[in-house]
Amino acid sequence: MENHPKPLCTYNIFLIGFMGSGKSAISDYLSQHYAMEKIEMDRIIAQREGMPITEIFARHGEAYFRDLETALLVELQSRENTVVSCGGGTPMRERNVTEMKKQGKVVLLTASPQTIYDRVKDSHERPLLEGHMDVDYISGLMEQRREKYEAAADLTICTDGKDQAAVCEELAGKLMEWEKRSCRQ
Ligand code: S3P
Repeated sequence: MENHPKPLCTYNIFLIGFMGSGKSAISDYLSQHYAMEKIEMDRIIAQREGMPITEIFARHGEAYFRDLETALLVELQSRENTVVSCGGGTPMRERNVTEMKKQGKVVLLTASPQTIYDRVKDSHERPLLEGHMDVDYISGLMEQRREKYEAAADLTICTDGKDQAAVCEELAGKLMEWEKRSCRQ
């Protein structure tokens, strides 16, 4: 994929999807190849709290972390031309989806439970998978989340068997189609 001096779009792109679906990798790739800024929600939250996500969960609980996600999304309202890599649970809260849609397009990245397992099995940075690192657990949690993920998504891209360049090409193509369609309406 070539470097594009022009931004892919003026609005923001919110990448959502299960843990290990490739949100961070794809946001890195997009920001490098298009003139877009990049924000990784988990990284910002961890920096501001001065501790890793696992510790935020352990010390303050999941609800506290979820409130930080919502507050950050509201703060991001002032941004444009930014690709935001969300946490895997961000779209579970309806308010968060409303905030994302105010400012941009929501792109869902998917992968099979086996692919997700292969990508995350050696990581200890995901409190929700600690002690449950297996394909069945991943598959069950993914099923519980599927409806909300799909309802939030403006576009969906399956990442199984694709490299970052292929996923980004597909994303750029689908966004262009989307724009053409919305211009005609
Ligand atoms: C979570 C996913 C994580 C992180 C937190 C909760 C989730 O982000 O926000 O551990 O609920 O799925 P990644 O999707 O970047 O791993």
